Amino acid sequence: MKDFTGKLAFITGGASGIGLGQAKRLTERGCRVVIADYSQEHLDAAMEYFRDKDVSVHAIRLDVTDRDGFAAAADETERVFGETPDLLFLTAGVNVFGPAEASTYGDFDWVLGVCLGGVINGLVTFVPRMIRKGKGGYIAGTASYGAFGPGPITAPYACAKSAVLNLMESYMMALKPYGIGVSCLCPANVNTNIYQAPIAGRPARYGRSGYNVNEKTQQAVAQVNSAGLDPLEVADWLLAAIEDEHFLVVPYEHGARMVELEYRRMPLYCSAEGMRKLEEMKKRPQTEEEKMLFDERERGGVFNGDMRATGFGKAAQDVDWVSDAQKPIY
Ligand SMILES: NC(=O)c1ccc[n+]([C@@H]2O[C@H](COP(=O)([O-])OP(=O)(O)OC[C@H]3O[C@@H](n4cnc5c(N)ncnc54)[C@H](O)[C@@H]3O)[C@@H](O)[C@H]2O)c1
Repeated sequence: MKDFTGKLAFITGGASGIGLGQAKRLTERGCRVVIADYSQEHLDAAMEYFRDKDVSVHAIRLDVTDRDGFAAAADETERVFGETPDLLFLTAGVNVFGPAEASTYGDFDWVLGVCLGGVINGLVTFVPRMIRKGKGGYIAGTASYGAFGPGPITAPYACAKSAVLNLMESYMMALKPYGIGVSCLCPANVNTNIYQAPIAGRPARYGRSGYNVNEKTQQAVAQVNSAGLDPLEVADWLLAAIEDEHFLVVPYEHGARMVELEYRRMPLYCSAEGMRKLEEMKKRPQTEEEKMLFDERERGGVFNGDMRATGFGKAAQDVDWVSDAQKPIY
């Protein structure tokens, strides 16, 4: 897609962070935008930002896990703008950190429900409408750099994001004949409000978490996020990929090489010798290239030992089977 002028975009999680960055950039490019978000507070703040701009933005309160709510949001979009969106950005997501073996059903249901279920619900709701509209279009799902690897302290998140990557790839192939392009956005660390999610954004129905989550641990995450990419820069990478019509968006100069290095573990997992080699590779000092790429990926936002001292990444106090003593910081 080369021209965004006059197009209509629907963005989940559009009231904060990466989604809001997408909304800002799309309005600057002449798009009309719907921002759909769970948080009324975020929606109000975002609408305040757009108030004195000469742009067309409509806010809808939506929990992406609510399928009826999604259909109602699509109907409302068509009522307000007289048409279904040309661009669908499925960006809403949440994350929480803790040892995989401490996870509760609630941790999995919440993170998978929002990060993967929210993308599925968006696709099932909007894809038939976009096809029927008959004007092509573009869909961008936000996964994460975490999609390329395991997550010993982000198991539900890594699982959801790798599934989103795979799902978007399937839709990329399936929707090509309809002229609907698909991209998947995979940033590492971005300066957003995602650190707030486990306390302010987790509905009570998901019950208790198996992870140690409190103001202190979330402030530590906030500090890491503050060293991340600017959401506007991330939006620029995505819009450039949509113009260029390429699938994978790893928003770093050497993104393609970073992905190549992440996936080299897979063939090594196929034998005991490979597994030993992988361990050796982890112990040995990184090559200059890897050091450079790792810095670029994290931009200083690494989860270091100081974070561990806050209780970050540990199990909840009543989880007595997790041995923190043996745990490295991942
Ligand atoms: N911040 C990072 O470092 C980073 C890195 C890689 C990927 N991501 C992904 O980027 C996406 C956007 O996250 P962000 O970092 O901008 O966080 P953010 O918290 O700033 O923005 C996410 C928005 O999604 C909304 N949201 C949460 N649950 C929702 C639900 N059930 N229904 C609808 N809206 C919901 C939140 O209210 C918030 O406004 C997520 O999918 C996240 O996993 C973030």
